[in-house]
Amino acid sequence: MLLLLVFLVSVLPLSTDGGKIFWGTEVKPHSRPYMAYLNIDRNNSHYVCGGFLVDKDIVMTAAHCNGSHITVTLGAHDMRNKTNTQKIHAIKHVPHEGYTKKKKFNDIMLLKLKRKAQINSFVKTIALPKSEDWVKPGQVCTVSGWGNLANCSSSNTLQEVNLVVQKKQLCMEMSRNYNDSIQLCVGNPNEKKATGSGDSGGPFVCNNVAQGIVSHRFCTGQPPRVFTRISSFIPWIKKTMKLLQQS
Ligand SMILES: *[C@@H]1O[C@H](CO)[C@@H](O)[C@H](O)[C@H]1NC(C)=O
Ligand SMILES: *[C@@H]1O[C@H](CO)[C@@H](O)[C@H](O)[C@H]1NC(C)=O
Ligand SMILES: *[C@@H]1O[C@H](CO)[C@@H](O)[C@H](O)[C@H]1NC(C)=O
Ligand SMILES: *[C@@H]1O[C@H](CO)[C@@H](O)[C@H](O)[C@H]1NC(C)=O
Ligand SMILES: *[C@@H]1O[C@H](CO)[C@@H](O)[C@H](O)[C@H]1NC(C)=O
Repeated sequence: MLLLLVFLVSVLPLSTDGGKIFWGTEVKPHSRPYMAYLNIDRNNSHYVCGGFLVDKDIVMTAAHCNGSHITVTLGAHDMRNKTNTQKIHAIKHVPHEGYTKKKKFNDIMLLKLKRKAQINSFVKTIALPKSEDWVKPGQVCTVSGWGNLANCSSSNTLQEVNLVVQKKQLCMEMSRNYNDSIQLCVGNPNEKKATGSGDSGGPFVCNNVAQGIVSHRFCTGQPPRVFTRISSFIPWIKKTMKLLQQS
């Protein structure tokens, strides 16, 4: 009986996963008004990332999304449609000073926008966690982005997927550079659904609070993936936001 249960549990995720799209589904337009689309220039190349509005003129994203020029689009759903969007240049980039390309710890960055965004039904800020918040294994939260679909073409419309937080051991087995006190191990290895390229910097949202930032994948390409654990960076966020608000 127990064996049967174990068997069922291990095949269920596979049978429920259509495997058709990397992402879950298209979100209801403008139901995630904190989402930001980042156009990044770095070394004469162009990149895209996700981000999220945490104050009228401050966007949070991943440190690895830094570049020489970053332009933020707010209020978008279908990137081909400019109605109600606000495109604002980032005038200051503050990646965490402890971020390193090699180990990818502290993959968090704050951007100061050239002007305050106009807050309306298309553009809103999202709440940040408290230091004492601790996202636990088994918790299911939502990540959204304009990143790649299963066929590797990027999406015009904002997509989202629910992902399960994994036990730290799973990510520690995959890399020595996983630190559960500052990172989250996210995504069921038995499912195909995951974040794709272009989704970096986007928020992992639990009960309307941004608890994680899409950071990186392991070399196998399969889930789980590593997200930045935002609640571990509250002192840095407060300090940096204060600095940006004064400047
Ligand atoms: C830009 O290119 C230079 C020279 O190839 C390299 O040293 C540098 O690390 C690159 N910068 C980034 C941010 O990738
Ligand atoms: C962000 O990236 C740009 C371009 O690569 C670089 O010039 C700048 O120093 C970076 N910012 C910080 C604070 O590292
Ligand atoms: C463009 O976006 C606006 C606001 O979301 C929406 O009302 C409108 O129907 C969209 N237009 C097209 C052609 O999809
Ligand atoms: C990729 O998949 C999406 C969603 O299924 C579809 O709309 C799009 O046309 C596909 N792109 C290509 C190049 O096949
Ligand atoms: C994990 O990160 C915390 C916070 O930066 C640090 O104090 C701790 O030493 C790190 N643990 C390991 C094993 O690197």
